[in-house]
Amino acid sequence: MIREHGFPVEPWHVREEELDLDVLAQSESVFALANGHIGLRGNLDEGEPYGISGTYLNSFYELRPLPYAEAGYGYPESGQTIVNVTNGKLIRLLVDDEPLDVRHGELLSHERVLDLRAGTLRRELVWRSPGGSVVKVISTRLVSFTQRSVAAVRYEVEPVNCSIRLIVQSELVANEASATPSTDPRVAAVLESPLVAEEQLVTDDGTALLVHSTRTSKLRAGAAMVHEVDCAVRTDVSTEAYEDWARTTVACELADGERLTLTKLLAYGWSSRRSVPAIRDQVGAALAGARFSGWEGLLAEQRDYLDSFWDAADVRIDGDPEVQQAVRFGLFHVLQAGARAEQRPISAKGLTGPGYDGHAFWDTEMFVLPVLTYTHPAAVADALRWRLDTLELARQRAQQLGLAGAAFPWRTISGHECSGYWPAGTASFHIGADIADAVRRYVQATGDAGFERDIAVDLLVETARLWRTLGHHDRHGRFHIDGVTGPDEYTAVRDDNVYTNLMAQRNLLAAAESAARHPDQARRLGVTDEESAAWRDAAAAMHIQIDDELGVHSQAEEFTRLQEWNFAATPAEHYPLLLHYPYFDLYRKQVIKQADVVLAMHWRGDAFTAEQKARNFAYYEQRTVRDSSLSSCTQAVLAAETGHLELAHDYLGEAALMDLRDIHANTGEGLHIAALAGAWIALVGGFGGLRDHGDVLEFSPRLPERISRLEFSLMWRGLRLRVVVTQAEATYSLRDGSDDARMPLLHHGAAIEVTCAHPVTAPVPPRIHPGPAPSQPHGRAPARRAPAAQVPHQNHPAAGTPTAAGRTAAE
Ligand code: BGC
Repeated sequence: MIREHGFPVEPWHVREEELDLDVLAQSESVFALANGHIGLRGNLDEGEPYGISGTYLNSFYELRPLPYAEAGYGYPESGQTIVNVTNGKLIRLLVDDEPLDVRHGELLSHERVLDLRAGTLRRELVWRSPGGSVVKVISTRLVSFTQRSVAAVRYEVEPVNCSIRLIVQSELVANEASATPSTDPRVAAVLESPLVAEEQLVTDDGTALLVHSTRTSKLRAGAAMVHEVDCAVRTDVSTEAYEDWARTTVACELADGERLTLTKLLAYGWSSRRSVPAIRDQVGAALAGARFSGWEGLLAEQRDYLDSFWDAADVRIDGDPEVQQAVRFGLFHVLQAGARAEQRPISAKGLTGPGYDGHAFWDTEMFVLPVLTYTHPAAVADALRWRLDTLELARQRAQQLGLAGAAFPWRTISGHECSGYWPAGTASFHIGADIADAVRRYVQATGDAGFERDIAVDLLVETARLWRTLGHHDRHGRFHIDGVTGPDEYTAVRDDNVYTNLMAQRNLLAAAESAARHPDQARRLGVTDEESAAWRDAAAAMHIQIDDELGVHSQAEEFTRLQEWNFAATPAEHYPLLLHYPYFDLYRKQVIKQADVVLAMHWRGDAFTAEQKARNFAYYEQRTVRDSSLSSCTQAVLAAETGHLELAHDYLGEAALMDLRDIHANTGEGLHIAALAGAWIALVGGFGGLRDHGDVLEFSPRLPERISRLEFSLMWRGLRLRVVVTQAEATYSLRDGSDDARMPLLHHGAAIEVTCAHPVTAPVPPRIHPGPAPSQPHGRAPARRAPAAQVPHQNHPAAGTPTAAGRTAAE
């Protein structure tokens, strides 16, 4: 586990003050650098020791068989696994013949700092070799946001009170061993030597290039490096390349006070179509661009890019510096996952590790894209264009399943369904409505008419068509969607999942509306008036399951009559339950992996009354174990909405610290990008009270006791709205428009209008005390953000329910 105070609290940095080899895999994920196209895990420069060595290119995968003991119709035949491509991070150092290895000699100091504004990972160490020579090494690494095929490392070495002979070997290595097999279903399949060498060369200027391809998926990748050496004394530099590795060697002798500076520029490119010469040229061109900027230029571009991101996206919190740091860390990684993905998926782990085989899920549309919509909308358009690129595959999948429209894959890299477990894969049809909702939100927030015409209509229409054939009207006319799995994966293949039905309802209406607004596009897709009317009918007749006796929504048909899970008899070490209990048992009991009705109450909050929200929240809190990292942010939002502000603060903390504290004990496999995005959702949706159900944004801001001020910004149709909330009032101000640019919005239900010239300040209405906070299953309460003495109304268990005093198992 990452130690409680593993990373000191600082507003703009994540700093590791000493190297802990027991959590190397975790720190490699935390310190990963990516731009959505290239991902470099935070491996040590010298390559060893490592937890998981990883270098990724978005969508560069290998196929692997999906074997079934008992296969069935429509089961996917092959899976996809992200490939650990040629490692260009490697820089080995020999000090008087002794390789720098932190396990040998003496590591006198070691610090790594992820700088969230500079976009760099800096490492500084002082090492005494077994022979007694002492060196100081500073390496600074970046993956460029502005040049998406480029990464770079600056490596500086100097002797400390001695003279030394130095050899620096900077490498490209393909087919390196990178991870050990595991039985946890959430980790990646291990691919042995997936890359076949196709070309290797060294040019006169010392550029080395390796081109490889995958055996089955037939993708081709090139990696190239070139170096600049800066040293006051004589150096000897040579470069060589072989099938699976290339190496530039620098030799020199340094006296005390002298220094060797090596700048390594790296470029990557891949394609499923282009030839070896074309890839070679593509990578060569990227390297030329990097050289043209030079190291200082790359640093300056990186800084500018991030300055403008933070200007739009930063969230400031007074009163909880730990969460402040974690939220910025989360936003930085969300940006790294999506910034330059450019019509490729944003996967569950971003490009920070091999977990979940590098697949993208609904995490993208329901957790990552809502954040990017309001902070970096261009990345959202790209991510949804990727979905459009895979629409034909989704149509084919629907056809194979006997359905109309498009059935998007539950997990995938290229658009093919890769889930071999259909009850929590294919049956999770809600992903179609999730995509539709992301499309709707993006169009509404940006007013991007071109996107609506060219991208949105197709996605909305084809997802709506699926619902029309997947669901049916019963003899009373009610519309049901039977046999599907909602977000809670501990309940599968049930009728009328509330979340699915409400999201499908919105999807059907959005399709009908966009077809009406774009008749030409609708005609091209063959949409008739009758079809649009059928979507509206289905939406109007959507059956929503309520247990009248308990007065709560039933997650799915009959869910509330299932046997209760015995939480008191479930030991802490049996979480996550999916690794300790058979699915058949989880499926037939009231135990919930992650927010489901509660998630519906967030994104379809317009379909519930305040009273229903309060009752549902209390009911589902007692049964939700949060075995998915996607849950806590949603629980934060609903805890805040139902008035349990301190509980909301606790859940915010859990989402934000998911990886900095390794709360689910699997950060080593890659970061939980949806949870990190969820920290923003918890703050802006929870304490800012943002809802975007209609044309006008709604805010119901209210802060927990420990947070005295919250400030965030949203991009809205070319304008920038800044919201500052204190305990007493909220101020809305607008910029980036002319003086008379105006934005209507709702503040706690009251209509106000903000213009660029006139900010509006409105009071936060007094809080109506909601009563005791709901309890969680035994031992599953989130860790508290504030000492109990300061939080009088938190986590008092309701009568007859188990105490919620425990902390989560993984803490
Ligand atoms: C969750 C899914 C999620 C997946 C990838 C699972 O544990 O239950 O909702 O899509 O992880 O993050």
